[in-house]
Amino acid sequence: MLRLTFTVLYALCALAAARQSPQAEYIEELVQTSNFDTRFSDDLHEDARLDVPELVRKYNYPLEVHSVTTSDGYILEMHRIPHGRDASNTPNGKRPIVFLMHGLLSSSADWILMGPGNAFAYILAEAGFDVWMGNARGNYYSRKHLSLNPDALLNTAFWEFSWDEIGNIDLPSMIDYVLEYTGNDKLHYIGHSQGTTAFFVMCSLRPEYNEKIISMHAFAPVAYMAHNRSPLFNYLAPNAKDIETIASLIGIGEFLPNNNIMTWAGEAICSDEVIYQPICSSIMFLIGGWNVEQFNKTMLPVILGHTPAGASVRQFAHYGQSIDDKGFRRYDHGVLKNLRVYRSIKPPNYDLSNIVAPVFLHYSDKDPLAHVNDVDRLFVELGAGIKIRVPMTSFSHLDFIWGIDAKTLLYERVINLMRAVDPQA
Ligand SMILES: *[C@@H]1O[C@H](CO)[C@@H](O)[C@H](O)[C@H]1NC(C)=O
Repeated sequence: MLRLTFTVLYALCALAAARQSPQAEYIEELVQTSNFDTRFSDDLHEDARLDVPELVRKYNYPLEVHSVTTSDGYILEMHRIPHGRDASNTPNGKRPIVFLMHGLLSSSADWILMGPGNAFAYILAEAGFDVWMGNARGNYYSRKHLSLNPDALLNTAFWEFSWDEIGNIDLPSMIDYVLEYTGNDKLHYIGHSQGTTAFFVMCSLRPEYNEKIISMHAFAPVAYMAHNRSPLFNYLAPNAKDIETIASLIGIGEFLPNNNIMTWAGEAICSDEVIYQPICSSIMFLIGGWNVEQFNKTMLPVILGHTPAGASVRQFAHYGQSIDDKGFRRYDHGVLKNLRVYRSIKPPNYDLSNIVAPVFLHYSDKDPLAHVNDVDRLFVELGAGIKIRVPMTSFSHLDFIWGIDAKTLLYERVINLMRAVDPQA
């Protein structure tokens, strides 16, 4: 275990040392050095480099950038596609709001990368929704703070958060902003993976937010992780606490994978028979939950140009704690700080019975991160949950956002469900 801790530590150091290297160059190198199909079109290469506002505008959709400052000083960037290409096409008069929240190491890019006709944000805009995409503190678009510096040397103050703060502070701040800006009093929420975890945190800690939710669609819902089968998470879980403690002692709070950590992790976990070595060496795919049939490999450079988009070490550590103690609890700071922060030795459980907004749990049989047994337990404890299985056995965690058949297997159904519960939609 000591050796493992040092391996992880080494990777974190290498990562901190090399974190200046821009992702785009790395992708270029990855694509060129792989023996895998590299005949990507120039157009897709451009998509790998453009940021979300540039990319959405390139495809002739309207895009607004909004800034939201949280009560603890984080400056979050939101992206809005207010309508489809034809502004006059408003099927039912008024545009209902749909708020999209990305997963771990991701960003608002998740919802647009696959392009018009495939990516969910565009489909929603054409279906008559006013689409707002959040970005959690610490990712590429939300690496800003009123007083803390994310790049401070030997000081991790900016990075001292997990998905507890994302759910407890970021989501309410962004939801309040959207409702105030548009003058609506409710919205539909769609989250993927950590975007579901953060929602469950919000509605259990701040139940007044249930009233602002018309319906919530949880793609690959993650609360309990006792049955998690992700190789990387299982590798990290038993040492989560040590990794975070040591990382913060040496001044690393950001988990931003690059060349070095990917090489390290690739060697540690991927084996030679894996056909897609370049994919395998990406941290996203090491976390697990994709399948060859649903993955459009032409899009690989675009995906790798935008993901991973950054996260804190503590977000990983908190998931590690969930795997380790099989519960769904607030972040474990250790006994002394727990007593100060929570007035108890152990961190309190998130009270799932507080979540009374209508929650649709969209899950799949083969998802290693949102395992069916864990989804079942969540479903039983939720105030108002409905479980819906994606009708394809091999469908997996990342397929919810990038899967070739996501539109027909999932998105169309979700739009129908939102219309069914909301006369305005
Ligand atoms: C894969 O992506 C490319 C580029 O966007 C697209 O032309 C192609 O139709 C996609 N393939 C499938 C099976 O969706």
